[in-house]
Amino acid sequence: MQKENIGTFKLLNKDNKARTGLFYTAHGVIQTPIFMPVGTVGTVKAIAPDDLDNIQAEIILGNTYHLHLRPGDELIKGFGGLHEFISWDKPILTDSGGYQAFSLSSLRKISEAGVEFRSHLNGAKLNFTPEKVIEIQRNLNSDIMMVLDECVAYGTDKEYTAKSIELTTRWAKRSRVYYPQNSGQNLLFAITQGGFFNDLRTESVEQLTCDDLFDGYAIGGVSVGEPKPEMYQLMEHTAPLLPETRPRYLMGVGTPLDIVYGIAQGVDMFDCVLPTRNARNGTLYTSLGKVNIKRKEFAEDKNSLDPNCSCYTCRTFSRAYLRHLFVSQELLAFRLNSLHNLTYFLNIVQKARQAINEKRYNAFLNEMIALYPDEAA
Ligand code: GUN
Ligand code: ZN
Repeated sequence: MQKENIGTFKLLNKDNKARTGLFYTAHGVIQTPIFMPVGTVGTVKAIAPDDLDNIQAEIILGNTYHLHLRPGDELIKGFGGLHEFISWDKPILTDSGGYQAFSLSSLRKISEAGVEFRSHLNGAKLNFTPEKVIEIQRNLNSDIMMVLDECVAYGTDKEYTAKSIELTTRWAKRSRVYYPQNSGQNLLFAITQGGFFNDLRTESVEQLTCDDLFDGYAIGGVSVGEPKPEMYQLMEHTAPLLPETRPRYLMGVGTPLDIVYGIAQGVDMFDCVLPTRNARNGTLYTSLGKVNIKRKEFAEDKNSLDPNCSCYTCRTFSRAYLRHLFVSQELLAFRLNSLHNLTYFLNIVQKARQAINEKRYNAFLNEMIALYPDEAA
């Protein structure tokens, strides 16, 4: 990647609010909208990098918190960074640990300085500051670093949430001061928050975007236990407020329908454990709807899992065999199911890009709503 291109976001096409684009990082260009498989501890569970190449994954996620604890970001730096350590030479985005502090919140203390919490591995005390998490992510050499943020629980009152967005803004600005290279080797995204209050969401976006300090902007604090209609309303309100000229990332979302809906609102990037986690518990996404592979009805089913999928799993095996692997708790079930589900999610964003480029996104959205009628808002 030519140094001067890093951080460039090139808009290609728009169809109403939905857009396609190209985002340039130090380890290559990603097409947007994109889905990012989650590789929390430096592996997309059950999937090797050559599998990721085969299913045309373009960028994966890693986690600052987990990798700092084990094996340690200094150790990874000694290998030349996370790409070299895990043998993946395409883009990597790392989350900051702000969300882990939230999800392990029984053990956390938030102050102006940062967040103090205890390791889920050995109980050791950890202090994450905005500066510290940049340092860790620089050691990992991630292509896209996320700032430390405070993600508040669903139902948090307005007074607390209002104070919280101010803190998240101050932390984001400290991060930028600590690593001032806008469009540097390690791009830096800010995370907007604001709970489920539209005016606070607007305020958070304004505070974080006003000086154009960051290479991209995320929407955080979503998928924290809220009813679907609230999440959809929040996306609809917030995504269009974010700068046109920077990628927009909806963190931790979501189901296929959530993703397609988010794209309709102008979101460019998504990550979620759903395809891989569900693969490991036997829930598979297909062009005909969701399938629970452990069900008896598949015991003698000679058909492929999804007639419209060209992944290795669908090209090669019967539903009966996939069921057998799963009920026998064979390890291969994890790999084959994960390969298929990830292919499904990557196909969705690929189809979404095509639909936007051909100016028929709304028809595509309606097809997806018809496929997942129970999930529609
Ligand atoms: N992943 C999902 N939601 C969030 C969030 O609000 N903040 C961070 N840092 N990561 C997330
Ligand atoms: Zn498949």
